[in-house]
Amino acid sequence: MTVLQGEAETESGREGIRTWVVTSLAEMAEVYAIRHEVFVVEQHLTRNVRDDPDDRYSFHVLAALDGETVGTGRITFYGDEGQIVWVAVRKSYRGRGVGRAVMEHLLRLAREQGSRLVTLNAQTHALSFYESLGFRPIGSRFMMGNIEHQYMAREMEG
Ligand code: COA
Repeated sequence: MTVLQGEAETESGREGIRTWVVTSLAEMAEVYAIRHEVFVVEQHLTRNVRDDPDDRYSFHVLAALDGETVGTGRITFYGDEGQIVWVAVRKSYRGRGVGRAVMEHLLRLAREQGSRLVTLNAQTHALSFYESLGFRPIGSRFMMGNIEHQYMAREMEG
């Protein structure tokens, strides 16, 4: 698998949180482990978190809290649009800024790549999380894998 490289790892604004772009297969295994824990075991949203063909052409971010790898997210670029998917934080580490740090790193990558628009399908329980990051809902809510979703978009300034 080709693993795209982005900017070097960064300290997030919050103490103890570090985010970086995956550059090795060992790190991809961490991404899949977190996805599996959240989207298969916890949410029963899917059975296989490794068979997304766009993984090969995407940037994957990992986040560590106090040295423990606990969060992930992906952005894929299609023309001047960036699409974010697979955002997840291990359950017992939520509410401590890891999700926001992952999203901020993904948005920095979008800025670096010159994206004019960033889109995602939010689980509606996380709507306010994405709204606080500048995303706005577009269209009606819909069901995907038994979980209600809302398409959202954020225009990138400059
Ligand atoms: N509903 C409402 N607000 C939420 C929220 C939720 N589910 N999750 C986080 N927030 C808010 C927090 O209160 C926080 O606000 P603040 O910055 O003003 O304090 C802000 O959003 C950032 O929270 P943060 O601690 O960075 O988020 P997190 O680490 O808990 O991660 C998710 C958020 C959604 C990634 C995490 O809850 C998760 O993995 N959920 C299960 C998988 C999932 O739903 N993924 C999203 C798919 S679209």
